[in-house]
Amino acid sequence: MTRITVIPGDGIGPEVTEQALLVLDAFGLGLEFDVLDHVNAGTFLETGVALSDVDVERITGSAGTLLGAVGDPRAAGTRYARDVLLRLRFELDLYVNYRPVRLPDARLSPLRRAGRREIDCAVVRENTEGLYVDIGGALRSRTEAEVAVDTEVTTHLGVYRVIDYAMSVASRAVCMVDKSNAVPNGGRVWQRLWRAACAERPDLETSHLYVDVAAMRLVQDPTQFEVIVTNNSYGDILSDLAAELAGGLGMAPSVNLNPGTGFGLYEPVHGSAPDIAGTDTANPIGAVLSAALLLDQLGYRDEAAAVGAATDRAVADRRCTADIGGSLGTRAAGEAIRDLLA
Ligand code: NAD
Ligand code: IPM
Ligand code: MN
Repeated sequence: MTRITVIPGDGIGPEVTEQALLVLDAFGLGLEFDVLDHVNAGTFLETGVALSDVDVERITGSAGTLLGAVGDPRAAGTRYARDVLLRLRFELDLYVNYRPVRLPDARLSPLRRAGRREIDCAVVRENTEGLYVDIGGALRSRTEAEVAVDTEVTTHLGVYRVIDYAMSVASRAVCMVDKSNAVPNGGRVWQRLWRAACAERPDLETSHLYVDVAAMRLVQDPTQFEVIVTNNSYGDILSDLAAELAGGLGMAPSVNLNPGTGFGLYEPVHGSAPDIAGTDTANPIGAVLSAALLLDQLGYRDEAAAVGAATDRAVADRRCTADIGGSLGTRAAGEAIRDLLA
């Protein structure tokens, strides 16, 4: 049996994860789900521990992890999300955050011009360094003389390997996005390694944009992009922006991946959405497509493609949730996807 660890998490996390697991179950592949139900904000608030070393061992010994979402207003401003999500990204060295973006139905595009709706690209986000390293400190806290510092870390290895991955998944074009005009030290590392990587791949169209312009170009004409490679923070922001262009945050899948070991933490791009939690309205497609990325990584290529085709069909038939123009609840939308698979 292939053991998959599952962290349903908080808010809509458990609701969308349930639908993703039911879709995986529909294939009868003999996947065993090892559910870490206790990893949530409630446990953290009660015990101060979000994810134990034993949990991490269960995860590293599994074939992959599915995560719904972590986050709770009661834990705002605490280490909670860091202790679960960022701990796993950092400790398991999941240095690529691969976030594919594809518009399944032109009707869902917020873009005015029809020719700009052929969106099929991916954000490849550096996932282990940048501003997320938690290096820094605070002086004179809670006074009017307060000073807080968060250091952005850029390493040769970190930049080299994420650019290398981006180029390995591209078939046409890669665009590197940074802010080297204003953030010069890390910027020089990105610029130098990018130029070296481009020289190795004359078969690819390679380009560079500063992040402010990249945001503008994404909205202006996303069809120009295939793979965007960027740092941790810019990847976080641009992937939400791109998701919205392609139908909405509820549709966007992702994997946090170590391409060397093949281990991945699969999760929708969205968070726990406390504003709609418990209302059976969350779109399960982001979670379901993340499960499809897991199937693909496990070698179940046909099954992964079938899930993509079924979600496309469900969207086209409007057998989906209200955020994308349907009238189904989360559970019924998941059921529609499973019907289309059968
Ligand atoms: P969010 O992604 O949870 O929600 C943003 C907006 O999108 C909300 O209006 C929400 O209702 C909507 N939305 C999100 N997913 C949806 C879905 N599947 N279907 C329909 N609508 C959907 O972002 P937020 O409100 O900034 O964050 C809420 C919490 O989630 C915070 O604690 C945050 O830290 C956390 N978070 C966790 C992850 C993760 O676990 N990977 C990612 C992002 C945010
Ligand atoms: C994401 C989330 C996380 C991030 C938060 C919850 C720490 O927004 O996965 O995109 O910023 O990476
Ligand atoms: Mn994010």
